[in-house]
Amino acid sequence: MNILGLNAYHGDASAALFTGDRLACAMEEERFSRLKHQAGFPSLSVAHALDYAGLAGADVDHVAISRDPSAHLHRKLMFALSQGPRLSAVRDRLSNVSRLRDVKTTLAESLGLPESAIRAQVHRVEHHRAHMASSFFVSPFERAALLSIDGFGDFVSTMWGRGCGNKIEIDGWVEFPHSMGILYTAITQYLGFPKYGDEFKVMGLAPYGEPEFLDRLRKFVRVKPNGSFELDLSYFVHHSEGVNMTWDSGAPTIGDVFSPKLEREFGPRRRSHEPLQPHHHNLAASLQALLEEVVLGLLRTVAEKTGLKDLCLAGGCALNCTMNGKILAETPFERVYIQPAAYDAGTSLGAALYVKHQILGEKREFVMDHTYWGLDYSREACRAALDAKSLSYRELDDAALADAAANLVADGNILGWYQGRFEWGPRALGNRSIVCDPRTASMKDHLNSRIKHRESFRPFAPSVLEERASDWFEMGGSSPFMLMTCQVKRDQQSRVPAITHVDGTARQQTVSRSTNPKYWNLIHAFEKQTGVPVVLNTSFNENEPVVNTPEEGVACFLRNDMDVLALGPFLVEKHRSTRTD
Ligand SMILES: [Fe+2]
Repeated sequence: MNILGLNAYHGDASAALFTGDRLACAMEEERFSRLKHQAGFPSLSVAHALDYAGLAGADVDHVAISRDPSAHLHRKLMFALSQGPRLSAVRDRLSNVSRLRDVKTTLAESLGLPESAIRAQVHRVEHHRAHMASSFFVSPFERAALLSIDGFGDFVSTMWGRGCGNKIEIDGWVEFPHSMGILYTAITQYLGFPKYGDEFKVMGLAPYGEPEFLDRLRKFVRVKPNGSFELDLSYFVHHSEGVNMTWDSGAPTIGDVFSPKLEREFGPRRRSHEPLQPHHHNLAASLQALLEEVVLGLLRTVAEKTGLKDLCLAGGCALNCTMNGKILAETPFERVYIQPAAYDAGTSLGAALYVKHQILGEKREFVMDHTYWGLDYSREACRAALDAKSLSYRELDDAALADAAANLVADGNILGWYQGRFEWGPRALGNRSIVCDPRTASMKDHLNSRIKHRESFRPFAPSVLEERASDWFEMGGSSPFMLMTCQVKRDQQSRVPAITHVDGTARQQTVSRSTNPKYWNLIHAFEKQTGVPVVLNTSFNENEPVVNTPEEGVACFLRNDMDVLALGPFLVEKHRSTRTD
């Protein structure tokens, strides 16, 4: 049985393909289109996934799309009536519905096939059920509490419930227009970060400030006794004036969601080119504190009502690593699982899993313990990409490559590390990574200004050998997907300044020898030379989606200030530093 999951006509379009019990591929459209957060239909991801699995369009038995226009229809109609008829809203809704009806047609067209060639049954899976399924059904838990929390999807922002075996049950939800994701987006826009997906920048900014505006921000949200919440809608316009959003194709955009009352509360908004002031840091810190207060409070209620000790989290807010890092300490939950593509991209995986288990009743046999579900490229393809640019290189076996690359990193060189299948989700976790020495404090500024060309306050994250993690970080268990922030141990912070954020935290990735032996070998070799089992890891890109093909890896390497590149088995040295201290 072949099941194709799709996230379409939403941000972070993606496709996930199951062939029998095996997940063949899970990939985001942006990696192929080269547009961050690519919306529209994931035509390229679908074509590549089928090709990778050796399937044709006719071989797909079920297509699952993570939108259901009929979900919460009664509430949608009631809301529309309460607002009065607005032509643009009605038109947008109808075009959205018709696009979803045409999934089979669009799929056939994107594969260059007649519609009759697609024999799959199409399923529409409500957005938050898809989010929950994406986490629970690939978690190691037989039973768990579930929470999905984001901006909006299918008229809901937050949904909670329980997973047991191959079934999910829903216990409650928060409907449009109330949304912690929208609150986070509003303040993100106010702080001068207008792009879709910029919320993580505010999370990175928050540790520079103090939550001095927390009391004033609490006016924005009323928490109910059951842990649910309502926004004070006078600070927002997404429910009244509508918000300009584009999901048809290209990168998604979202217009302002906050009202003039927000500026009356906190002063004029910051424009992107204006410098960040201490009160911006403090507002970011206050927003982060409020998100944690509301969501951790909801989680405590869910824990109490379900009596469950394991939690699966999903939705865009589940990428908030700072909040995630506090769950074990501040709620009764004892284990947390978050699938690497917790945001909307992950709903293609979730929709496919929902059909597989909830609808078709198949047993669960798969736990997602790594994130390498993209395409890989052959040794010959890597060599051809280097030859096309007339680069000199050495070909090395795995052990020699790890030793040589680690030696170069220890000498202060910045390494492009390109190996195997690309990652699923927003993080590069050792297959499309830029790696450098965490012991050098100036590395952060150098990377931000010379390699990544991004804001100077943005932190960098570490990869640590799983076996050594507890010696360096205050954390329990593994963190393979870089989704939990924790404290760097106080006595180790000065040894790894480039990955220690201003508040002493880090968003660490624990690297397992079994799931990524090449990356583990690289860090192990670095430890042998330096005594430090930690490297700085950032995604292999420069203000673009993470590189996919060897050609993109080589192009990124050549156009910025990286020093060395390990492209498959080939090691290239553009320039080489030798540490003199
Ligand atoms: Fe979502």
